[in-house]
Amino acid sequence: MRGEAVAENARIHIGGHDLEFPVVVGTENERGIDITNLRAKTGVVTLDPAFMNTASTVSSVTHLDGEKGILRYRGIPIEELGEKSTFVETAYLLIYGKLPTRPELDGFQRLLTRHSMIHEDMRRFFDGYPITAHPMAILSAMVTSLSSFYPYALNAKDDQYRDITIARLMGKLPTIAAFSYKKNIGHPFIYPRNDLDYCANFLHMMFAVPAEPYKMNEVAVRALNLLLILHADHEQNCSTSTVRMVGSAHTNLFASISAGICALWGPLHGGANQEVVEMLEDIGERGLTAKQFIDQVKDKKAGLRLMGFGHRVYKNFDPRAKIIKKACDELLQKLGIHDPMLDLALELEETALRDSYFVERKLYPNVDFYSGIIYRALGVPTQMFTVLFALGRLPGWIAHWKEMIEDPTTKIGRPRQIYMGPTQTHYVPLEQRQ
Ligand code: CMC
Repeated sequence: MRGEAVAENARIHIGGHDLEFPVVVGTENERGIDITNLRAKTGVVTLDPAFMNTASTVSSVTHLDGEKGILRYRGIPIEELGEKSTFVETAYLLIYGKLPTRPELDGFQRLLTRHSMIHEDMRRFFDGYPITAHPMAILSAMVTSLSSFYPYALNAKDDQYRDITIARLMGKLPTIAAFSYKKNIGHPFIYPRNDLDYCANFLHMMFAVPAEPYKMNEVAVRALNLLLILHADHEQNCSTSTVRMVGSAHTNLFASISAGICALWGPLHGGANQEVVEMLEDIGERGLTAKQFIDQVKDKKAGLRLMGFGHRVYKNFDPRAKIIKKACDELLQKLGIHDPMLDLALELEETALRDSYFVERKLYPNVDFYSGIIYRALGVPTQMFTVLFALGRLPGWIAHWKEMIEDPTTKIGRPRQIYMGPTQTHYVPLEQRQ
């Protein structure tokens, strides 16, 4: 996707060359020097480990301004979506680029419910996992396994089955997620119910048991909707970039998303929500005050981080964290829960935000700092937190995969490197080696 507005050129002098490169300007005035031809013209590449300074693509899915704390899906502020939308509607918006009309929304919702069951053979895969299996391990394996059930739909470039594949993945992920939890606690699987909406159906599959009716709590459904909306996309983060990278090889959607799930699992990314609650538990067990823990983090000797704090892009505040903190407070009040973990989290936040270590480094609570406390209030066990993040992030991953695969200018992702290893040396026979 190239050819956007070019306002000026950047000049690079290197090795006797004096060359100009176009500066691409986005619709929100972000500017990027297009160095696609740099190596061809000069033999030089750019070096930017961890992509601190590299835009890997042009995209129209999500706008994020880390300095101003802005997050918008397809132009719509996250605050509005959180207040007015549902997760399914937001998913449609992200994937198809516009808010759906009533018939479009109904049709999409129907597709997701119709495709919520998984093949019975696949249900039996769960039997092979140990009871201790982390649900993220099951989730990623099951998602890539889905590709084995639809062999006719594996050509990523063929759009004939694209929409149905998207609906299957969106429809089945909650079922797989809930089954991985049921496996973990040794309960029978609860099959999806088509009369329930997306979030209610997920809660039902998670918490219903065959022995008694499950009473749906509308407050919990709404809280889950909000959390999934807030997690639904975050432009070129680690897992989304992974999905795009894997998909750039024309890998099918299931396999590309499975790779994204693996990336999300890491504690520096989506796995942080589990880490936050484990950190809070650990502080409680060790009887530390917020100040004592913050001192240990600052000391750096223990290699501790204040999990749920800091962000590569947000340097002022994370708008998602702001909404989640408020929602967390309201939810606990509505459910009549007093969670001492919330008190501790609030104290940690307050202590950190007054401390020059955090102020100087611009470290603020991120999306993961309070989300775990909401999940706990909903009865979700800690190991499932990152799975819920994955459920939320799915439409964003799909939207980016679709944008990439439908762009005729997309090439396979293939970074360069600067080699720092031995220069040419020769094979030494085993008996002559020292
Ligand atoms: N606690 C203590 N110090 C921190 C933290 C933290 N949470 N985050 C960053 N720092 C320090 C870091 O030690 C470094 O200090 P110094 O300049 O003295 O070396 C400085 O701040 C810059 O950190 P960085 O690791 O270079 O920053 P980054 O942009 O590479 O990393 C991050 C961003 C989110 C990985 C990092 O802030 C972190 O590890 N946070 C904790 C994990 C977490 O909450 N992750 C969820 C991110 S939001 C949801 C998502 O996207 O998945």
